[in-house]
Amino acid sequence: MRYAIPLVVLMISVAPVARAADVAAGRAIFDTTCGNCHSLRVGVNEVGPSLWHVIGRPAASVPGYMYSNAMKRMDTNWTKEALNAYLAEPRADVHGAEMFFKGLPNARDRANIIAYLQSQQ
Ligand code: HEC
Repeated sequence: MRYAIPLVVLMISVAPVARAADVAAGRAIFDTTCGNCHSLRVGVNEVGPSLWHVIGRPAASVPGYMYSNAMKRMDTNWTKEALNAYLAEPRADVHGAEMFFKGLPNARDRANIIAYLQSQQ
C-alpha cells in the first residue's frame, strides 16, 4: 500500500507586483491641474463640471453645466477605463471638447488621479 503524501505547495509570488495607485500623488495632480477648472464638491461647476462622484456616472450628466456638443454626444460612463483613455488625450477623444489641457500622458499619473477621484466618492 502506498501512502499518499500530501504535497504542500508553497505559493511564492514571483510576478512583479504592480504598485498600488497613490492617492496622495493623485491629490497633488488634482490640486495643480484639474483643480484649476474642476471642483469636487457636489453642484459646484466652474470652468469644467463638478467632478463629484464622477466615477461611474454618465458623461455630460451634471445638471446646469453647459457641455460641448461633442461631450453631449459621448455615449459613455466614466468608468476607470474610460477616464484613463480620456485623460490620456482629452481632445483626441472628444473632438471639439473644451477641455484645453494637454492631458496626462503618464499612465501612472492617470492611475493616481483616478484613485484620488475614487477616494473622494
Ligand atoms: C483648463 C480647464 C480644465 C482642466 C485643467 C481640466 N479640465 Fe476636465 N473639463 C473641462 C471642461 C471645460 C470640461 C467640459 C468639456 C466639454 O463640455 O466638452 C471638462 C470635462 C471633464 C470631464 C467630463 C465630465 C462629465 O461630467 O462628463 C472629466 C471626467 C474631466 N474633465 C476630468 C478632468 C481631470 C481628472 C482633470 C485633471 C487631470 C481635468 N479634467 C482638467 C476643463 C478642464
